[in-house]
Amino acid sequence: MGSNILVTGGAGFIGSHTVVALSEAGFNPVIIDDFSNSNASVLAGLRDILGRDVPCYAEDCNQYNLLRKILHENRIEGVIHFAAYKAVGESMQEPLTYYRNNLGSLITLLDAMLAEGVSNLIFSSSCTVYGDPDTPPVTEETPIKPPASVYGNTKQIGEEIIRDVCQAKSLKAVSLRYFNPIGAHPSAAIGELPKGVPNNLVPYITQTAAGLRPELTIFGGDYPTPDGTCIRDYIHVMDLAEAHVSALRHTLSYPETRYYNTFNLGSGKGHSVMELVLLFEKISGLALPSRIGERRAGDVMAVWADVQKSANMLGWKTKRTLEEALQDAWRWQQKLNNL
Ligand code: UD1
Repeated sequence: MGSNILVTGGAGFIGSHTVVALSEAGFNPVIIDDFSNSNASVLAGLRDILGRDVPCYAEDCNQYNLLRKILHENRIEGVIHFAAYKAVGESMQEPLTYYRNNLGSLITLLDAMLAEGVSNLIFSSSCTVYGDPDTPPVTEETPIKPPASVYGNTKQIGEEIIRDVCQAKSLKAVSLRYFNPIGAHPSAAIGELPKGVPNNLVPYITQTAAGLRPELTIFGGDYPTPDGTCIRDYIHVMDLAEAHVSALRHTLSYPETRYYNTFNLGSGKGHSVMELVLLFEKISGLALPSRIGERRAGDVMAVWADVQKSANMLGWKTKRTLEEALQDAWRWQQKLNNL
């Protein structure tokens, strides 16, 4: 029997794919998710893929007594903490909501873990902590920049809280800095379910191709990049999910009682918005309606990951191509819209 792992936000985009990766690696995931930004249909999707139900508490994880009970009753050995609000624009409008939810739940979770003697934590962080880097790729030693958003600040402060707790208490934790997760499970049983108009590029592309949006606006065509559009490091969500399994094995087997580290999770390659649009057109055989618009406030020009540390210390690297990620994202969108 593998270890029991609590996955907060396990019904979300990255959380649900990580539940699959954990199960396939022999762990027993237990989900807590309040479904504030996810859908109960995810649980049916997980059942289709795994052939069994994954235990799920439909609850807000900002509840100390409940968390202690869940950790205790399920004999949890490690926690992967995804549960958080993630809309950059909304975080600027509602800062207290973001600080209370993202940092409050982290502190509550840490308290409950320490009280129950659960000593392994994987934290969902973001490459947003690097801001606009002077010279990509960014390594984990690249200086952290002042956060560009309240959301970004909750990730920076979250990392600091965990680092400080690891210095003082018996806790082994890693923060995983995600670059741009895209794609879906290849079965199309689970994928990304953005609420309302998507902010992120790939759901916007697939919704436009599905006829739900009239056209894609490319935010800025005059950046000093080879084709004038921004460059990001897109990573298949299943590669990202598998990195959590590697990170968990890393902390579970770490021989000290106090440990903290940070890892970049990306493909290590940068691709422009225009490259994604052209590749999507090739894969789908569709002409994607698009136009170049204004730059989006807060966007950085180019960022991609140096993934050497993750490769060396976690023994992990991406296996899937950008093409596969776009194919899987498109298959998921087609299933959602019965195309
Ligand atoms: C955004 C968030 C980041 C978060 C990440 C994952 C911002 C400033 N950053 O990253 O904090 O961790 O999502 O959820 O919001 N683009 C278009 N047209 C669109 C949408 C996007 O041209 O309709 C471009 C953007 O300008 C960018 C690229 O596509 O160059 C990727 O954008 P997006 O998917 O929103 O991710 P990030 O902005 O990199």
